[in-house]
Amino acid sequence: MTTTGATRGYRASQKLLHWMTVLAVSAQLAVGYNLDLDDGCDPTGEDRSGGDTTDAEEDRLDRLEDLCEASAADYDLLGGSFDLAELHLALGLTVLALGVVRPLWRKVAGLPPWSEHLSEGQRRLVHWTERALMVLLVVVPLSGLVLVVTGDDAWLPLHIGAHVAFFVALAAHLSTNLRPVILRRML
Ligand code: HEM
Ligand code: HEM
Repeated sequence: MTTTGATRGYRASQKLLHWMTVLAVSAQLAVGYNLDLDDGCDPTGEDRSGGDTTDAEEDRLDRLEDLCEASAADYDLLGGSFDLAELHLALGLTVLALGVVRPLWRKVAGLPPWSEHLSEGQRRLVHWTERALMVLLVVVPLSGLVLVVTGDDAWLPLHIGAHVAFFVALAAHLSTNLRPVILRRML
């Protein structure tokens, strides 16, 4: 391997796709953890409901909560208001598109030679964690879509499990790549 070959990093297009993915996934995680359809719909005064409110007041709070939940569950991306759930769907579709385009582009554009700063064992780890990340970039949004399309909460553990697996793969990815000599290949 020549020095030029060993130090050559990724193409500008691959860098752009990589950092766009990092940005979209980070935003998506932030939105995901703030998505609590039920709690987000608790109207003011809900904490007093139960013994402390009259029946009429209780009905009014329930109606407000039902209205809010109905609109939160309505994923009409192009319709009037744009809520957090719709933002989660839009970002998820973006990540899914990037998750499909990236491996295809990787096949076309090819990969730079291995960095000489990675041992044989680290190269194997890099190889498998990149594969896991690429698979999970498709599985995580798909599990979210299944959850929404079926409307069945039984699918939630799959969506949660998939994004936790993503964190594990990401931690391994960072354990090999968060070093200046490696990082600069992607900058
Ligand atoms: C990269 C893609 C995605 C990531 C990283 C992601 C991440 C997350 C996270 C972190 C949560 C919160 C889980 C928790 O509280 O432990 C969540 C919940 C959820 N996600 Fe996603 N998600 C993605 C794509 C999608 C897509 C495409 C949909 C389809 C609309 C979706 C639908 C949902 C739903 C319905 C919930 C549960 C909300 C609730 O009932 O509280 N997700 N997601
Ligand atoms: C959403 C999170 C991430 C995903 C899905 C991801 C995925 C990938 C993939 C698939 C590659 C292989 C090259 C390619 O096919 O484009 C790669 C390379 C790389 N990633 Fe990430 N990555 C993520 C986050 C990060 C972060 C946060 C950093 C550092 C701060 C990072 C640093 C690198 C570096 C330096 C390389 C090049 C390694 C080399 O071959 O020398 N990645 N990443």
